[in-house]
Amino acid sequence: MNKQSFFSSKATAIAPSNIAFTKYWGKKDETLRLPLHGSISMTLSNLLTTTTVEFLDKYIKDQVIINGGSVEAGEAERVMKHLDRIRKMAGINLKAKMVSNNNFPSGTGLASSASGFAALTLAASTAAGLHLAEKELSILARQGSGSASRSIPGGFVEWLDGDTSDTSYAVQIFPPEYWKITDVVVIVSSGKKEISSSVGQQSASSSPFLKVRLSRMKEKNKILKGLIKNRDFKKFGELIEAEALEFHTITLTQIPPLIYWLPTTVMLMKLVQKWRKNGLKVYFTVDTGQDIHLICEQKNVGKVRAKLKKLEEVKNIIVNTPGEGIRLTKRHLF
Ligand code: PMV
Repeated sequence: MNKQSFFSSKATAIAPSNIAFTKYWGKKDETLRLPLHGSISMTLSNLLTTTTVEFLDKYIKDQVIINGGSVEAGEAERVMKHLDRIRKMAGINLKAKMVSNNNFPSGTGLASSASGFAALTLAASTAAGLHLAEKELSILARQGSGSASRSIPGGFVEWLDGDTSDTSYAVQIFPPEYWKITDVVVIVSSGKKEISSSVGQQSASSSPFLKVRLSRMKEKNKILKGLIKNRDFKKFGELIEAEALEFHTITLTQIPPLIYWLPTTVMLMKLVQKWRKNGLKVYFTVDTGQDIHLICEQKNVGKVRAKLKKLEEVKNIIVNTPGEGIRLTKRHLF
């Protein structure tokens, strides 16, 4: 992590999003956001949130501005709750102004809450005069949005399966340069999902298949770590694609069922399998939204892009390598 130590009541952080190779779905503690099992992700180089937070006595209430506008009441409340956690830790009661911008669409399955709450955590804690270590930042970010815990470190990351708040945080398992793989993010629609992952997770246990999934997650994470360590792309791709489908089996069978895909998402899944049959090594993974992540080795990015460019359904492509973790910047948004 690129730490810069300057104190100010205003601070700005840049946080990356991350793509989960094993998905977090279901909590053992709703308030603390303790997950039912560990998960493994890659920090993304080009899906970024920049957030500036300022605490000042002239502010009479918290102001939350995301992507140039005010936000829905529920979203603002979640941000304010996070600011409260930080105010409590720092022993201050000043109100704050927060301005946050994503360089990618929000609410379409690209984990804007991960980068959003990670950026908010570092910006607000620094502005409040706290100098938190990576572990503490991850613990704090987790309480805003579970997957945000994994957006603090860079490279390949594991969110440890702790049973308490102090033991449930994310660590780097391999640095960004360890393995030259790429996440080609395909934007298929700007439509926002109706049910956020945070809410969707609350009924994960209503799926009759969750128990089966849980009994296998520890072993799955262990195998996945070994495949990343050995840079075994074929077995790695097979595992993450099967894992994405298993995760969606839970969302599809929980009550009420959640169908996050659009027809184009499914079309791309089938195309990826066809391209693979024809010799192009590429695998997919999908979170809670219609946008899809195509994972390939960096040497094959050109070929994957060329294929995607021919599809009129594809709205945009964002190419990501394993990225660095969260950092501070002096370029404030206000
Ligand atoms: O952190 P949340 O509540 O937005 O949940 C994220 C859930 C998934 O993106 C589907 C999986 C994951 O591990 O990122």
